[in-house]
Amino acid sequence: MIPERVTLVEVGPRDGLQNEAQLIPTAQKIELVNRLQAAGCREIEVTSFVSPKWVPQMADNAELMAGIARRPGVRFSALTPNLKGLEAALAAGADEVVVFAAATEAFSRRNINCSIEESIARFAPVVQAAHAAGVKVRGAISCTLGCPYQGAVSPDEVERVVVLMKGIGVDHCGIADTLGTGTPRAAQAVMERALKHYPLAEVSGHFHDTYGQALANILACLQLGIASFDASVAGLGGCPYAKGATGNVATEDVVFMLHGMGIETGIALDALVDAAAYISGVLGRAPVARVSRALLARRAAAQEVR
Ligand code: HMG
Ligand code: MG
Repeated sequence: MIPERVTLVEVGPRDGLQNEAQLIPTAQKIELVNRLQAAGCREIEVTSFVSPKWVPQMADNAELMAGIARRPGVRFSALTPNLKGLEAALAAGADEVVVFAAATEAFSRRNINCSIEESIARFAPVVQAAHAAGVKVRGAISCTLGCPYQGAVSPDEVERVVVLMKGIGVDHCGIADTLGTGTPRAAQAVMERALKHYPLAEVSGHFHDTYGQALANILACLQLGIASFDASVAGLGGCPYAKGATGNVATEDVVFMLHGMGIETGIALDALVDAAAYISGVLGRAPVARVSRALLARRAAAQEVR
């Protein structure tokens, strides 16, 4: 059942950087994206077309997309909560767009200022317009394994949103553990609900490592045959509306685990570590990724010997 090849969607430039308090210059974001492409990332969630008042860090969305030296075969996606966002994303050349709902009413209100039903009604024309433009729509469901406002979340609550997403024609179902409190059996339980409505190829996992469970949860998903995961270079990120949620699982950690299991990703780990070191330098801190820390320490030790 374990897949031989896994697709990693690199979400660092969006999900990672959206949470940074200091405004990162667009040129440095572009450099990060170019390095990620060079490392072999083929799916990159680069930015969000959301209200700049809500998420100021993503206000340079169009400028960022225009500045990337796009390599053939790399798909760029962006978050689009409404038609205004979709129109701007299409004009900027997004290959894929993401509509994002929550499994709980409380998180939906804090994140996108409306109820779950209202969010679905708002996404319906976004999906239609994206499809009319030949653009695929991924759906992300936040807080599927715990919510900072509600607490525990049941698989029934998650399935309800999966069904609503499916009903408006969303092509792909991303299950997110925004809070990072999920554990492997719980992760499998929600994935099984998503798999009742979406084919294996259109279900993905998005795990935060706040409680150190992300790799275990990814392994549990691999055991169900799931072959697509979001990950964030250097472990960047969190969510501005989920206090206490630290980074997304680090791409380097996921790549190390997958390659160790003989699973292909198409990503060159050393070049990915370079990208992690680059953005960490910009942010003035060490990468959160365990693998980057270990490999950078090994590189430093080798330098000393020379
Ligand atoms: P609202 O205030 O209810 O909407 O926000 P509104 O329609 O009344 O608009 C308010 C203002 O925003 C207006 O401007 C609009 O023009 C503008 P004003 O007239 O006041 O000057 N506006 C926009 N501007 C640019 N692009 C747009 C856009 N839409 C409206 N697309 C809204 C509703 C959804 C817009 C707002 O709540 C919002 O932008 N939220 C974004 C939240 C967000 O990006 N959160 C982080 C991403 S989700 C996440 O991190 C979780 C996930 O990664 C999974 C995980 O990590 O676990 C997916
Ligand atoms: Mg995230």
